[in-house]
This record gives sequence, C-alpha cells and structure tokens, in this order.
Amino acid sequence: MIYHIPSIYTPVRSVLAIWHQLTKAEIPELAKCSVLMRERSRVEETIYAMQRAGAGSLQVISDFDMTLTRFAHNGKRVPTTHNILDNQLLIDEDCTKKMRELLNTYYPIEIDASRTAEEKLPLMVEWWTKVHKLLISQRIRKDMLAQAVRESSAMLRDGYKVFFDRLTEQQVPLLIFSAGVGDVLEEVIRQNHVFLPNVHVISNYMDFDQTGVLRAFKGQLIHTFNKREGALSHAAGLRALQGRPNVLLLGDSLGDLTMADGVSQHQNLLTIGFLNDQVDERKESYMNSFDIVLVKDETMDVPNAILRYITSSRYRK
Ligand code: TMP
Ligand code: MG
Repeated sequence: MIYHIPSIYTPVRSVLAIWHQLTKAEIPELAKCSVLMRERSRVEETIYAMQRAGAGSLQVISDFDMTLTRFAHNGKRVPTTHNILDNQLLIDEDCTKKMRELLNTYYPIEIDASRTAEEKLPLMVEWWTKVHKLLISQRIRKDMLAQAVRESSAMLRDGYKVFFDRLTEQQVPLLIFSAGVGDVLEEVIRQNHVFLPNVHVISNYMDFDQTGVLRAFKGQLIHTFNKREGALSHAAGLRALQGRPNVLLLGDSLGDLTMADGVSQHQNLLTIGFLNDQVDERKESYMNSFDIVLVKDETMDVPNAILRYITSSRYRK
C-alpha cells in the first residue's frame, strides 16, 4: 500500500521548486533561447550533485573540432584540424582538390540524421583512410605545421580562455578527445596559450621519419564513430582522470557521447551537445541524446556558467 503523507510530500516538492528557482538565478545562461533540454529537472539535479561533490571529483571530456573550435565565423566555416592542413605550404593543388571532394562527399554522410551510426561507421573509416593516405603522399614536414596553423583561420569558441583557465585554476583535468589530427590540434591550443598542464589529448598523431617528413599515422585510427574503443583503450588508463567520478562531456556529434565510456563507475554524467548544422533535421535526436543541446551557439557561455557553478565554493552548503 502506498501512503501519501502530505506534510512530507509538500516540502519535498517546494524544495525542488526553490531549487529550480536557484538554477535560474545562479545559472541564467541556461535560460538562453539557444539552450534546449529534454529533462530540465534531471540537468539541474545533476549539476547540483556535481556542485556538492566539488571540483576535486570532476573531469571534463571534450571533443575538439566544432566543439572547442567554432563552427563558423562571419558566415565562413572555420577549418577543422584536417582542413588546416589544406595549405600550399604542406599539400599540392591536386591533393587540396581531392580532400575537398572527399569532404563534400563524406561530411553530409557524417551528419545525416536518416542514417544510423552503424551505417556511417564503414564510410567514416573510408573517409579518414583516404585522407590520411593522401596526406602521407604529400611528404608533409613537421616543421611547417606551426606556420600552417598561424596562417589558417582556426578559431576556438568565444569564452575559451575562461574555460581553460577555470579548469586549470581548479585543477580539473581536461581530456580533449579528437578524431582530428593531434599534432595540429596541439599547435592550435599552444598558439592560443591554453595548452596547460591539466590538458590531455587523445587523437590521431602523425608519425614522422628522422628527417621530419610524415610517413604514417600512429596507433589505431580514431574517427567520429569509434571513440568508444579509444575511450576504453586510452582514456581509461589516464591517471589524471582517475578518482573523478563526475564527468562533464562536450561534443558536436552523437559519436562523441561514447567518449566517457572509459570512465569506470561514473556517478554523474552531464552531456552538452553543440548542434551547429542541419538543426531541424537533427534537433530531436540531439535532444534525445544530450542532456543540454546548444543550437548554433558559437560560445562557451553555457559550459563556462555550469563550470563556474560546479567549481565555486560560494554556492556550497
Ligand atoms: P573531432 O573528433 O575533433 O570533431 O574531429 C573530427 C571532425 O573532423 C569530423 O567532424 C569530420 C572532420 N574532418 C574534416 O573536416 N576533414 C577531413 O578530411 C576528415 C577526415 C575529417
Ligand atoms: Mg567534432
């Protein structure tokens, strides 16, 4: 038999209601019209639980291309780490043309809401394999990468400095887990002065010969839909992430959701998805998959506000 005891029931409800007011006041960024949440109360309860546990229990796992970097700027697409390599310093015209053709063929497949991840997986392997083969054929020089990044229009999202600085200040590890090119990614964050000691990177790294010429890519290929394997084989072993059961995950692809699969026994997981493109087609699946969806939001405002709340002792009871 179920007893309803009004004197207990009512206060519990009003405490929850007060709490909802609290997040509204403390994290006003969650009220932005670009923020979508299927279950607002679950988001608030998770943020609250993470805040009670504090910065010492937290780790952040983030995708790179189109998550930490902007999707577009002044109406033009911002290059991904692969596309930064599209520079005459590194590759010839024919290679540029072929890489662009591949991008035009496979990117629409990557974001196609009508195909499953299983259907996309072999096609992504095909894309990455073809591009890496092309890049290797170009005999890219390691010592030219920094200049190519400088000459590119690579751009981190607005508010990135606050994001990286807060994590460093609070000694929260940040794992950047990218299917892009690790060497280029590192150069982008180095040139933006945020390659800090708490930052760890898992990505596709180039293998150079003794003369500094690209001859292969190291390790197992990471593409958008096999991050789970990388999480289990690499992220799970990272000491800096151990003993931190609360995870804030940021991504722009549904494949990014598996980046936290290497975290054994996570207590609280909060996922934020940047929905940059094909908004109408993908809105529903993103809302069903990420806790918070940010629609065409080029800033780090929401992750920053959540981090400020979780890591601030000001709000601790
Ligand atoms: P990410 O895991 O850091 O987001 O990097 C993967 C992104 O890179 C993915 O969304 C597709 C993109 N990409 C290109 O832009 N050009 C390419 O040639 C390849 C292989 C991937
Ligand atoms: Mg991405």
